[in-house]
Amino acid sequence: MKFFLDTADVSEIRALAETGLIDGVTTNPSLIAKSGRRMAEVIAEICAITPGPVSAEVTATDFETMLREGQYLRSIAANVAVKVPLTEAGLRVCRALANDGTKVNVTLCFSATQALLAAKAGAAFISPFVGRLDDIGQDGMQLIADTAQIYRNYGFATEVLVASVRHPVHVLQAAKLGAHVATMPAATIRAMFKHPLTDRGLDAFLADWAKTGQSIL
Ligand code: E4P
Repeated sequence: MKFFLDTADVSEIRALAETGLIDGVTTNPSLIAKSGRRMAEVIAEICAITPGPVSAEVTATDFETMLREGQYLRSIAANVAVKVPLTEAGLRVCRALANDGTKVNVTLCFSATQALLAAKAGAAFISPFVGRLDDIGQDGMQLIADTAQIYRNYGFATEVLVASVRHPVHVLQAAKLGAHVATMPAATIRAMFKHPLTDRGLDAFLADWAKTGQSIL
């Protein structure tokens, strides 16, 4: 399973990239706004940190402008994946960019039939938002199960990129369903390292080791 970081905070990306566990980055207009920086500059910087796909999202809603924005975004770096919304115009743009060899991440997916349309439009990634579905009392993870099953049934190459991940249990469930990617905030990936028994066990080992008076080096 690939892990993407869902942030436009370059220092956060740089710190976690050092673990060797990060396979790519996703951004969206809200995350760029939060960074307080110019989009093209942030995306270029992130692309230089990670060789994996870096999703940069269009902000127009009509086909022509969205296509031009997508073409501009992909020119920033070779590893940019253009993110388009799951609308009729967005999927037209997806098809046009995919035909030119551009990786497209179709975002704001909330149903399995939407996911089916994105795969048919040649999306490299589909981003179903599990957390936002859970927030309104629906089962976000069921959408991952349905999408994964549909893609398997027809052999679609589109990767299921689980988005709107809020906690490690989302990652666990998505991994059990065989989702290709989970994109998550830095806090979620950091929470995955933690277990109280790991901390307690380490404390005990270090206390016993100190009693020996030895040092390895
Ligand atoms: C990623 O591609 C999405 O934009 C992101 O995961 C949305 O997460 P949120 O629902 O926590 O804003």
